[in-house]
Amino acid sequence: MPMIRECIVTTLNGEGRTHIAPLGLIQEGDGWIIAPFRPSATLDNLRITPFAVANFTDDVLVFAGCLTGNKDWPLRSATHVPGTVLEGALAHAELEVASVEEDDQRPRFHCRVVYEASHAPFKGFNRAQAAVIEAAILASRLHMLPREKIEQELAYLQIAVEKTAGPREHEAWRLLVEKIEDHYKHAPPTQPEGPEGP
Ligand SMILES: Cc1cc2nc3c(=O)[nH]c(=O)nc-3n(C[C@H](O)[C@H](O)[C@H](O)COP(=O)(O)O)c2cc1C
Repeated sequence: MPMIRECIVTTLNGEGRTHIAPLGLIQEGDGWIIAPFRPSATLDNLRITPFAVANFTDDVLVFAGCLTGNKDWPLRSATHVPGTVLEGALAHAELEVASVEEDDQRPRFHCRVVYEASHAPFKGFNRAQAAVIEAAILASRLHMLPREKIEQELAYLQIAVEKTAGPREHEAWRLLVEKIEDHYKHAPPTQPEGPEGP
């Protein structure tokens, strides 16, 4: 399996407005594959404007915010492709779609890196940040995964949050747990099991 980097992807719609979403980019040589599930705004945008920016950030509140309705994060223009860069990203890569591999579930946009830049140092691993990313993935797949699995994994991930989180990680965790609890308040008691995938 190739390496996957979890990042914040920005794309532009037909009116030039930015769409922001957490996505796992699949490494492919010097480039990246963006694989959005159908249906998604990222997928629609990439067909209209075949460029994207991969924003590499350790601010897990952006991931949690995007999944819980807050997509209002400061942006600036990209320099080498039509697109926008997340202010505060540690680094970013400006991407151009080179080819598209069609798929009924999850088309793959093979992208080449047009430009990349670093903006701030990597400050080291933090377990709570990794736990929040895992929880964010669970929160984005509530319709696919069994409730028992989600609750078991959350209980384990919570240990790292309690031991190692700073204020942004605590807030991101709170938002995600609230979203998950809210989902089960309104969902039927049994959840269908579905494909997991990366
Ligand atoms: C860390 C992380 C990685 C994700 N990776 C993907 C991905 O590779 N493809 C995808 O379709 N959704 C992925 N998601 C879920 C999307 O962020 C979410 O479904 C989003 O709303 C995409 O749909 P949109 O483009 O319509 O906003 C990921 C979520 C998280 C938290």
